[in-house]
Amino acid sequence: MIEISGLSYGPALQPILHGIDATLPPGRITALIGPNGAGKSTLLKLIARQLAAGSGSIRLDGLDLAQANPAQLARCMAVVAQHLDVASRVRVRELIGFGRWPHSQGRLGPEDHAAVENAVVLFGLDGLEQRFLDELSGGQRQRAFIAMAYAQDTDWLLLDEPLNNLDLHHARNLMAQLRHLAETQDKGIVIVVHDLNYAISWSDHVVALQDGQVAFQGPVAEAATAERLSALYQTPVAITHLGGKPFVQYHR
Ligand SMILES: Nc1ncnc2c1ncn2[C@@H]1O[C@H](COP(=O)(O)OP(=O)(O)OP(=O)(O)O)[C@@H](O)[C@H]1O
Ligand SMILES: [Mg+2]
Repeated sequence: MIEISGLSYGPALQPILHGIDATLPPGRITALIGPNGAGKSTLLKLIARQLAAGSGSIRLDGLDLAQANPAQLARCMAVVAQHLDVASRVRVRELIGFGRWPHSQGRLGPEDHAAVENAVVLFGLDGLEQRFLDELSGGQRQRAFIAMAYAQDTDWLLLDEPLNNLDLHHARNLMAQLRHLAETQDKGIVIVVHDLNYAISWSDHVVALQDGQVAFQGPVAEAATAERLSALYQTPVAITHLGGKPFVQYHR
């Protein structure tokens, strides 16, 4: 479980995040939603300790993240940022191999090669392993970074807008893959997502941020009501049902 308590970040007069209390369940998919600028990426970076909190605490499976050393962290969680820095002369296979660093310290053994191979297949990168990252399409590159995070073999995966650039086939496959990982390997998965249908259909839990604060949170079916979503985005949102599944309407 990730337990966030009294978390604030940014200048006292104009904090980016303020008084965040949230619980993210293990072995489940949590959708982090909210308008542009609400603080989703900042929260993810604080959990990943890429930023240091101003006040408050984050505990991950009981471990106080402020006290954890980098090696411990890298074995607990893998992170894919919203904006991917592309070191262009890195090949896909090498990139995924970097995910094995916490296990291999750079000398990949048979187990590491098997993990890389598995990630290549799982994220549909067969045939692209030898490509340089700058020779990939946006969606292929996105999947290569997610494969690297997966290869890290952690209990937690934090993905900031993983559906960016993905066509509907790959977006759906990725969500199905994440569900499979949550259900069969007990991974805790936190995704920042803007498409409410993906958030509602595939997630178990939701944390909604607005102006740097938690607007609502809880099991997705109970917490993400049409009223709350409409207020969150200041846009009329309706939830209907199609084939017995919830369907979010907001286009017109
Ligand atoms: N390096 C920075 N310095 C100052 N302010 C920042 C910095 N990075 C982000 N912010 C501000 O912090 C707030 C939250 O940004 P954040 O990137 O966390 O939003 P977000 O919810 O991820 O939005 P989006 O959906 O657009 O990705 C925004 O108002 C943003 O302008
Ligand atoms: Mg963001």
